[in-house]
Amino acid sequence: MDDHQKSIQLKNYNAFRTEALAKIFCAPNNVAELRECLEKYPNEKKLIIGGGCNLFFTKDFDGLVIKPNIKGIRDVSDDDDDDDIVFLEVMASEDWDEFVEYCVNKGFSGLENLSYIPGTVGASPVQNIGAYGAEVKDCIREVVAIDINTGEAVSFSNAECQFGYRDSIFKKTNRYIIVSIVFQLKKSFSYKPKYADLNKELEDVEEPTIQDVREAVIQIRKRKLPDHKELPNCGSFFKNPSIDPEKADTLLGIYPDLPVYPQPNGLVKTSAAFLIDRAGYKGKRIGNIGTYPNQPLIIVNYGTTDGNEIVGFMEEIQEVVEEDFGIKLEPEVKIL
Ligand code: EPU
Repeated sequence: MDDHQKSIQLKNYNAFRTEALAKIFCAPNNVAELRECLEKYPNEKKLIIGGGCNLFFTKDFDGLVIKPNIKGIRDVSDDDDDDDIVFLEVMASEDWDEFVEYCVNKGFSGLENLSYIPGTVGASPVQNIGAYGAEVKDCIREVVAIDINTGEAVSFSNAECQFGYRDSIFKKTNRYIIVSIVFQLKKSFSYKPKYADLNKELEDVEEPTIQDVREAVIQIRKRKLPDHKELPNCGSFFKNPSIDPEKADTLLGIYPDLPVYPQPNGLVKTSAAFLIDRAGYKGKRIGNIGTYPNQPLIIVNYGTTDGNEIVGFMEEIQEVVEEDFGIKLEPEVKIL
């Protein structure tokens, strides 16, 4: 491992490309190096970054930033396992979409709807990434993480990960550094229509193959979502809010086309993109910051290096949406 570096610029480690310095920075190549780094700085505040695709900085980080570089994929299926199932152990720093492509090429199904999401494999369970009716939690068997305080490896079963909508135990505490994940995938595939946009993209394909689904997802995402390498952004900036059914009925009286998705907990999920759009903030730009014209849930950075400008724009959106609809949007992105 490189010697631990001091005063490192973090601009290239967050997808909004805001500037901030890390007091100390290390990039361990394996679990032993990761432990070494933790032991050396027991009292420093710590931040773990994967691809940096869902966080940005508003100030310097007064502590240790760890960017693991731990790679590898191996088949850990057992002879006794079901013939239609494969278990893959994947190290945390593998690129997420390269891993999805690997699975699709081998015909292993489960993750194809999550194609073309930026970031690393290790970040995928943290906020339980989801798209087009799929969530990563449905393919995770086990997550192995290092406890920041003790350096010990801890294994989490799917239930122990406490997955929720864009949520998990790893998001709730700062205690664990994910080092590997065991995915449970199927060797067979049949397309199950789940999400209107995706069904539409595939309407002319008779029996979509897993490759067709990946291609369709990539096409939709390329149309709707900006590439953070060309136009800095962190994907969806806000979570889709859940509201009580009475509130949903009132709003439906005024906005009959409001998307509503009843949840198992009795609440109704609605669309943050719709609310921002109807509040007049679709494609709106103020100075260096704006919402993306094709998907207003995405905030884009047209040129600032100061994360506080993004926060200012975020607050403005929260205010107008709260005024117009009585709903407080919560950021999905991590603000540091
Ligand atoms: N809509 C508008 N105006 C627009 C765009 C969308 O009113 O300009 C409304 C429409 O009613 C549309 C609805 O918003 O039907 C939903 O839009 P979309 O299908 O694009 O999905 P989303 O709910 O806005 C979520 C995820 C995305 C994921 C897509 C696709 C969250 C916070 N976001 O967005 O995830 O790619 O579904 O499944 O749950 C991310 O988390 O970074 C992310 C990109």
